Amino acid sequence: MEKLSSLVSRRLLPGFFQFAGRSFHRGTAACGDGLFVHRDSPHNNSKDVFEFTPENMTRAEAIIANYPEAHKRAAVIPLLDLAQRQIGWTPISAMHTVAKMLGMPKMRVYEVATFYTMFNREPVGKNFVQICTTTPCMLGGVGSDVIFDALKKKLGIGNGETTPDKMFTLLEVECLGACVNAPMVQINDDYYEDLTVEDINRIIDDIIAGKKPKPGPQSGQGHRFSCEPKGGLTCLTDKPTGPGFGVRSDL
Ligand code: FES
Repeated sequence: MEKLSSLVSRRLLPGFFQFAGRSFHRGTAACGDGLFVHRDSPHNNSKDVFEFTPENMTRAEAIIANYPEAHKRAAVIPLLDLAQRQIGWTPISAMHTVAKMLGMPKMRVYEVATFYTMFNREPVGKNFVQICTTTPCMLGGVGSDVIFDALKKKLGIGNGETTPDKMFTLLEVECLGACVNAPMVQINDDYYEDLTVEDINRIIDDIIAGKKPKPGPQSGQGHRFSCEPKGGLTCLTDKPTGPGFGVRSDL
């Protein structure tokens, strides 16, 4: 009979539980405290001072002006986003600047920046490639595992790593809300969907060549524009009826 301690450790550490030779968890096990805890480092510490560029300061003031004086802390997400767009990530010094501008306790800003995973609390490459490996993407099309492997091979890096030239960071993430067009990746602000290995290699090649690949479904001309059925419309195919349709003529 299996030892109790073994069963307990399986329950407590499901990320390491192997079932029929296959990892029970497909995603990265969150075993470290890196997601939640800040430790001062030479590139990310509370002694640094983050400043918005004059242009972004004008933008920040316009954002804050959207809210009543007593509720200006509602601007915390757009301001953190603006800071991240300025330098590519969100150091603790940017959180402090935002807290000061909004008259908020620093802790309230930390809570927001650590809750929303779109805030990168460590530097990322110029092109931040996030691959969804949640179930629909794992099962859809060629499968996200195949696309993930192709990306690792193409970029020469693993999950959570950045290329030496700082051009690409690759990260495995949970559902990005484009499940109908699985498998998909997000590169900076753009979604690339309905991917095959050829597609993702071409997209990376285009970015390396300084081109901007067309975002959206990559399933080819005449296929999807967004998330309609690949084989064409299956409903709402009749000509729309005009006003008064079905209404008694004597009314
Ligand atoms: Fe991949 Fe939803 S499962 S986008």
